[in-house]
Amino acid sequence: MNQNEIKALVGKSAVEKLVKSGMKLGLGTGSTALPAVRHVGLLLKEGKLTNIKAVSTSLQTSIECEKWGIPLYTLNSGEIGGRLDLAIDGADEVDGRHWCTKGGGGALLIEKITAYASASFCVVVDESKVVENLGLKFPVPLEVIPEARRTVTLTLEKMGAGVILREALRKAGPVITEHGNILLDITFKNPVNCEELETECNRIPGVVENGFFTRLRPVVFIGHSDGSVEIKQ
Ligand code: 5RP
Repeated sequence: MNQNEIKALVGKSAVEKLVKSGMKLGLGTGSTALPAVRHVGLLLKEGKLTNIKAVSTSLQTSIECEKWGIPLYTLNSGEIGGRLDLAIDGADEVDGRHWCTKGGGGALLIEKITAYASASFCVVVDESKVVENLGLKFPVPLEVIPEARRTVTLTLEKMGAGVILREALRKAGPVITEHGNILLDITFKNPVNCEELETECNRIPGVVENGFFTRLRPVVFIGHSDGSVEIKQ
């Protein structure tokens, strides 16, 4: 199986196993989360799922929900009331403790709010995302108020991080998030205390949120190239 086929398989498999009619559902962003979104749409169309109330984590996901007729609400709506039953999302890296890093698609802010507002969280990844130590290979993004670009960069560098301003493709200048902010991508040379960093990064004035997800213990669905899906509870 190629990587796209694995992503489609793992997203579908998580929906089959975990999504039940009547759920308030957080829907993630990216190429592994989208097949899960589509599968929810398909099951709704086939009448195998009913009364799903979804909260989207990005414009990409909202557009996919529109295509599939998945009923969308905001976290603040009366129907959702700030709490979800389940959130399903991809990740950039996941480790043996089920901690993960997210935000490769730039949607980490709403992804984190959504995941942390859910009774349970499910991460869907292909096997290439499983690592021993987070943040050494794939950069961890911070969503930052544009005015604080240099001050936050200096502080992060003092903390030992390599910092890169995320540049846009097919638009001059930096990526601007759906909330009007920039993204600073950080990496480390040696293993770091991710739990501590999740708290510490948010203490820097101008940081809105960071891509470390260490406060949940999600169920992790890992898709393998032989077509198997491993479920780590
Ligand atoms: C978006 C994310 C994505 O879930 C993460 O980047 C993984 O994406 P993909 O499944 O496309 O590899 O956090 O902000």
